[in-house]
Amino acid sequence: MAKEDKVRTTDFRMMKKEGRKITMLTAYDYNSARIQDEAGVDSILVGDSLGMVMLGYENTLPVTIDEILHHAKAVVRGTKRALVIADMPFMSFQVSPEKTVENAGRFLKEGGATAVKLEGGREVLPQTRALIAAGIPVLGHLGLTPQSIHQMGGFKVQGKVLAQAEKLVEDAKLLEEAGVFGIVLECIPAPLAEKVSQSISMPTIGIGAGKGCDGQVLVAHDLLGLSGDFSPRFVRRYANLGEEMQKAFSSYISDVRSGEFPGEKESFSMDEETLKRIYG
Ligand code: KIV
Repeated sequence: MAKEDKVRTTDFRMMKKEGRKITMLTAYDYNSARIQDEAGVDSILVGDSLGMVMLGYENTLPVTIDEILHHAKAVVRGTKRALVIADMPFMSFQVSPEKTVENAGRFLKEGGATAVKLEGGREVLPQTRALIAAGIPVLGHLGLTPQSIHQMGGFKVQGKVLAQAEKLVEDAKLLEEAGVFGIVLECIPAPLAEKVSQSISMPTIGIGAGKGCDGQVLVAHDLLGLSGDFSPRFVRRYANLGEEMQKAFSSYISDVRSGEFPGEKESFSMDEETLKRIYG
């Protein structure tokens, strides 16, 4: 695959086969998507995490189809090469396979995304099959599935006990049989993620799941240091943009207050004749 070639869902499997790690980041706006795309990321997830990092919700449950759609359109406009995946928000796929196809269809038809992601294992097989039958590529999501936090009792590492771990491996196989092109593994022990990755031919994309996965995803705000003091253990901060932004905003505020901004360089002049006429 040449650098400028568009990444397709079918490339995911190939990359796993060839041992090339898949990179994925979340983005929710045009410029972030453009910068990530130019940096060479393979895929961009318009995650329902946007509810928390863009809209200030406490969790992802309030996120609507229209909110994902709005952000997905901006991301698609900023992307030339990366594969854009739209997240199916809470209650957009739980009701029925028919509703799921209808809702997911909007992300491709109106949003311009290439694929959708939905949380869950065996319980979402009918929806997953219906989507794939409709020609909509699906990325699975196992382990910590934030839309079920109330059932899970909070954001906790999953798959630590044998029954849970076995169920997770089985779910991954079932999703693969259903035809997903990859599976996100969120917050599970590294050895379990490695076992899942070895058990299926589709790639696993880990977040808090160790290095045995076939690719990695992070919420961009977390790696950029834009999520305030909140930083889960599995995140590596590559920048401290929150602090940089605060410094820049403070400098601007103080420059405006002191009359330092705008200066001559940031102002427009006019010809002497017109100026004289204005002042009479
Ligand atoms: O919504 C999201 O950003 C996600 C990732 C954490 C995988 O689901």
